[in-house]
Amino acid sequence: MSEFSSQAPSANHVAIIMDGNGRWAQSRGRPRLFGHHAGAKRIREILESCPELGVKYLTIFAFSTENWKRTQEEVAGLMTLFRRYIIRESQSLKESGVRVRFIGDRTRLETTLVDLMDELELMTCENDLVHLTIAINYGGRDEVARATRRLAYDVKSGRLSPKDIDEETLPKYLDTLVLPDPDLLIRTSGEARISNFLLWQAAYSEYDFVDTLWPDFTREMFAQALERYRKRTRKFGGVLI
Ligand code: IPE
Ligand code: IPE
Ligand code: MG
Repeated sequence: MSEFSSQAPSANHVAIIMDGNGRWAQSRGRPRLFGHHAGAKRIREILESCPELGVKYLTIFAFSTENWKRTQEEVAGLMTLFRRYIIRESQSLKESGVRVRFIGDRTRLETTLVDLMDELELMTCENDLVHLTIAINYGGRDEVARATRRLAYDVKSGRLSPKDIDEETLPKYLDTLVLPDPDLLIRTSGEARISNFLLWQAAYSEYDFVDTLWPDFTREMFAQALERYRKRTRKFGGVLI
């Protein structure tokens, strides 16, 4: 390890596009939902490794606004999986100091799921060890559209003046409100695209595309991605002197 890499700070906020569950299952001759179950099980190990790896914020993409295009069977199976995941993991998340938040448009989700999401957010609201954000029915474009709608209402009602709308004001209307921007965005499964994730927030994130399918992604691979991140040079449009 070079002197530089050992001293470079870790990524404070890591966002992950957990992709490849379907292919993982299909390669085993199993239904896609089998892969989603295996994928959900991976989250715990990655989350638990965050404190030692210096990651304070972990944001994971669980279901996109485009994922409704999948079969009714897969969508329903995923919604059941989300409910079960919350029920099964709630207590352990609370006890291990994880603060959970959800981003995305909740209006299209079933009330039973939304109630569980609200409850988990409330249950963990005093935790501060790791901040886990789960994106369900999330789309970056949808988020910006919803933010713009709320912003327009504030302008209409006189609470906000158009001249005050700038790069500081707009993110206050986004779902990620209190979260810092992601430093590192990892996508598994070999696809090198963002698929509508965190469009505004990831403007200056470092991207890491790994070939491993999400259900095979381990703590060691996560640590390696963070090590690669520490070797990157972030310039934010400036010039290093
Ligand atoms: C990611 O895995 C999980 C969700 C989108 C819900 P995929 O289901 O996209 O898996 P692949 O890309 O088809 O292998
Ligand atoms: C992105 O993966 C969404 C999630 C991981 C939840 P997709 O599999 O839906 O993205 P595309 O279709 O390959 O772009
Ligand atoms: Mg996919």
